[in-house]
Amino acid sequence: MDKDIQKILITEEEIKKRVRELAEDISKEYKEMFPHLVCILKGATVFLTDLIREMNIYLSLDYLGISSYGASTKSSGIIKITKDLDHSIEDRNVLIVEDIVDTGLTLTYLREILSARKPLSLKACALLNKKIRRKIEVPVEYYGFEIPDEFVVGYGLDFNEKYRNLPYISVLKPEIYMYEVMKYEKK
Ligand code: IMP
Ligand code: MG
Repeated sequence: MDKDIQKILITEEEIKKRVRELAEDISKEYKEMFPHLVCILKGATVFLTDLIREMNIYLSLDYLGISSYGASTKSSGIIKITKDLDHSIEDRNVLIVEDIVDTGLTLTYLREILSARKPLSLKACALLNKKIRRKIEVPVEYYGFEIPDEFVVGYGLDFNEKYRNLPYISVLKPEIYMYEVMKYEKK
């Protein structure tokens, strides 16, 4: 699988260090607040599981399934809920845990639908932030790394459901994207 990688953007060690820092910051802010972490499926799962194990405070978890990408590497802006939350978030201190904020469309939509459910507070934490690609301004209270305008995979992030299990953040060889898109178009 790693033969498809063109370059590593963020190493395992760098991720580990930064995730620990984020966990410390979040733990400080939410210490007495029993935060409710809402993990956005599926991309944020790897980040979430590492993040919470560095947090020594009481917290609860839930998962929200959404899909915003087809086989292309550009955002469609079309978001579909594939799995709703199991628990009410009313009067809870909710922290959305995302893999990446790119155009900002997904997080904007998430903030809208979740704030309608009357949480006590609502903030967002993303591992990656592609500020340069924003189509809409949206607050991201915590993020791990700002990255350039490149499509990345690994540490939970996929391309056509593959590469989520890579332990680092990386960029694929251009021929991989082309081949996958061609395969999709033939279907
Ligand atoms: P946005 O709505 O454009 O901000 O996109 C957010 C979602 O698109 C993320 O949660 C990811 O699932 C996906 N996404 C955006 N950029 C990338 C990328 O570089 N690699 C993999 N997935 C991405
Ligand atoms: Mg995602």
